[in-house]
Amino acid sequence: MSAATPEDLRWLDAAVRLATPHLGTTADNPTSAALVVDPRDQTLVARAVTARGGRPHAEAIALEAAGFEAAGCTLYTTIEPCHHWGRTPPCVDTIIRSGIMRVVIGTSDIRHAGEGLLRLESAGVEAIVANHAPSAKLHSGYLQRLSKSRPLVTLALTVSADDRIVDVATGAAASWLDQLRARSDAILIGAATARRTNTDLTIRTPGLETRTPLRVVLAGASGVDRRLNLIGGFSGYRTAIIAESDAALDAPASVEVLRVAGKSGRPDLTAALTALAEKGIQNLLVEPGPRLAAALLEADLVDHVALLTAGEATGGAAASPDGKFTAVLDAAGLYAISAETIQRDTLTLYRRPA
Ligand SMILES: NC(=O)c1ccc[n+]([C@@H]2O[C@H](COP(=O)([O-])OP(=O)(O)OC[C@H]3O[C@@H](n4cnc5c(N)ncnc54)[C@H](OP(=O)(O)O)[C@@H]3O)[C@@H](O)[C@H]2O)c1
Repeated sequence: MSAATPEDLRWLDAAVRLATPHLGTTADNPTSAALVVDPRDQTLVARAVTARGGRPHAEAIALEAAGFEAAGCTLYTTIEPCHHWGRTPPCVDTIIRSGIMRVVIGTSDIRHAGEGLLRLESAGVEAIVANHAPSAKLHSGYLQRLSKSRPLVTLALTVSADDRIVDVATGAAASWLDQLRARSDAILIGAATARRTNTDLTIRTPGLETRTPLRVVLAGASGVDRRLNLIGGFSGYRTAIIAESDAALDAPASVEVLRVAGKSGRPDLTAALTALAEKGIQNLLVEPGPRLAAALLEADLVDHVALLTAGEATGGAAASPDGKFTAVLDAAGLYAISAETIQRDTLTLYRRPA
């Protein structure tokens, strides 16, 4: 098997850039992109991203668009193509029939374990896995759901200039938070925050309004009820409640209730995340207050944190008067990987060690 060339890696970078804004739209399928490229002059013949809802897959759409021009071309795909009949025909067979000569794959899919590559090779199509880090990052939620039975968990929260989690986030945070929400398969908040803010968690940024994902409320010992906007309101978006097996709930039939094991009226957090993974959730955004953030970090269930530090006093009371939040992140072993300024605020991204 030959190695990926610098041109291959550039095309894979382009495929990842194409797919990334579509994260959160492909249900339990990977949000992959495929490019059909003519290797003689390095021109793009066709490109596609897996369709909304996860079908058809990117490879099938790109090859359909390329038609006869696919013959002799290279197919770039961010993740290993499927080789078995699921809800769609196997992409590997479509590739073989198209006349594609070479397939360059960003990252392996643990579901397929190289089977598709063998099928391609035995049909005379050269197939290589480039072990392309941006492709692995693009698909980290999908891969983690399969390998750990839980979604990739990102916490998003706002702290004051003196590093306390503020009571209610201000307007400046709304736009970056909407971007994160749109690229997630679900947003989770605790019942105390749902009660305190009565948020409906919908995306309001123009152009992204239709991207509100599944909204999930984590119910605790004090329960939740239909007076909350998220539960009894009519927003046109889906809501689910995660509750301990025996907890009493008041919710209309439009709200899905996921019952999991727990203690003292509170769901076990690992069981809660497994229940979401079973529903196909790959990337989960949690918007926690201090208690829920601490509980998830304590249970070692946090992969990324997006922390907005206000440049000035936000006006809200501190929800975490006792401790500085970045000290909590340090203690949990997370480290900062980037920081950018948004107006007067600073957005810092943290991640867990590999
Ligand atoms: N600055 C920000 O970005 C931001 C974001 C969100 C919230 N907030 C603020 O934070 C404050 C609330 O923070 P919080 O942490 O107390 O509330 P939270 O984020 O809502 O989390 C605690 C809630 O989750 C429930 N829960 C269920 N299972 C749990 C478990 N296994 N472990 C821990 N909690 C579990 C608790 O139930 P029981 O206690 O009933 O058992 C409680 O209702 C509010 O003032 C809110 O406005 C700020």
